[in-house]
Amino acid sequence: MNHQVSQNQFLPTPTRRNFLKGFTGGAAALPVFPGLFRAESGDELSRVASSLTTADTVSESFWQLVKEQFTIKPRFIMLNAANLCPSPHMVRERVFRITDDLDSDVSFQNRAKFDALLEESRRKLAAFMGATEDEIAIVRNTSEANNMIVKGLELKAGDEVVIFDQNHPTNNVAWDVRAARIGFTVKRVSLQRSPESVEEMLKIFRSAISAKTRVLAWTDVSNTTGVKLPTRELCRMARERGIYTHVDGAQTFAALSRNLHELGCDSYSGSAHKWFLGPKEAGLLYIRQERIAEIWPSVVGVGWGNKAETSARGARKFETLGQRDDAAVSAVGTTVDFLNLIGQSRIEARIRQLAAALKDGVMKIPGAKLITPTTPELSAGVCVLRFEGMNNQKIYETLYTKHGIAGAPTGGVRFCPHIYNTMEEIDRTISALAQVIKEV
Ligand SMILES: Cc1ncc(COP(=O)(O)O)c(C=O)c1O
Repeated sequence: MNHQVSQNQFLPTPTRRNFLKGFTGGAAALPVFPGLFRAESGDELSRVASSLTTADTVSESFWQLVKEQFTIKPRFIMLNAANLCPSPHMVRERVFRITDDLDSDVSFQNRAKFDALLEESRRKLAAFMGATEDEIAIVRNTSEANNMIVKGLELKAGDEVVIFDQNHPTNNVAWDVRAARIGFTVKRVSLQRSPESVEEMLKIFRSAISAKTRVLAWTDVSNTTGVKLPTRELCRMARERGIYTHVDGAQTFAALSRNLHELGCDSYSGSAHKWFLGPKEAGLLYIRQERIAEIWPSVVGVGWGNKAETSARGARKFETLGQRDDAAVSAVGTTVDFLNLIGQSRIEARIRQLAAALKDGVMKIPGAKLITPTTPELSAGVCVLRFEGMNNQKIYETLYTKHGIAGAPTGGVRFCPHIYNTMEEIDRTISALAQVIKEV
């Protein structure tokens, strides 16, 4: 099946002038507009930001404008944010520009500026996540960040690590591999069914903890079922018992408002190339200040330094990873600028709005079983459903080949909407799904 579509199938896109009338009240705001597409300088950014604060941000036309920041193929619907996200123009340009600059001059002298650009990214990311700069390491992805914690914590035979059984392999199998060397025990917490309350989940975790438990490691939002864990409450429960807490934030980093100090975890990981909309192969490792010294490094490279120097560097000690992609690292800060233009709470609200509409629609399709809970306390942007007795893999494949809808085959069929999706796309996905299940 050819999923190329002809031009006349394209939806009408509001003209810039019409669009602006929709949210700022007219042509007065026109000069601001190009800034959002190519905003690079601080001046342009602040002009755009101030126009957005007065915007009618709940209108679909606003989100259409946001969508125009991305280069997604026309008529294709990207619903795979849990895995990989596109980056907006601003971020892509930053990556292209710095890569170009680097390829034109790889001298030490030209590259000297990258230290300052890394620190700029760190400063912006720290402010965005409610942490201090010393608590932030910009690593390569969630996998690496998780493994740094698994390998870095000092554990001994007889200790116990309690993990959520839906954890990603990097926060799951990685514990087994380490335990095989050291001799500690890995205990898994399972949810037997879709949870109905936060208290129900807390109870299961509470009963798994023992006097031997040294670490509690879970996933903020599961990538396999979409269930959202009560992270703040779990952190509190663990802290009262002196247990180290590691949270895999791959599915919440920039999807949900996350103030890490308020959340109370000891460490948190995330990938820039997922919900954060940032450069590929950049990631976040946050470690609470008091815990940094006790985490051993997995990689020791140039810049490690002596004991005093290392301890003064805070979480930067986890960044001695050899040659980095400086363009990606510096674009992390640019991504924060982009997200701040829209606002984290507005982004979370939009993701939740799209996810709710999606769940609502799929639940009406005969045979569809929603795996992800529907309430906001128990779910976020990851939506998993399954058609019992049907070939879910084929459903997922057909959605892409026939309709250009990119989900994932995780746990059945998984859809993860983000700010580059529109309500019209959600409707189109539900109609396509209803059609596909009759065909496969
Ligand atoms: C919960 C979770 N943790 C970790 C990862 C690994 O992310 P990355 O491949 O960016 O390291 C994923 C990937 O989907 C994930 O869903």
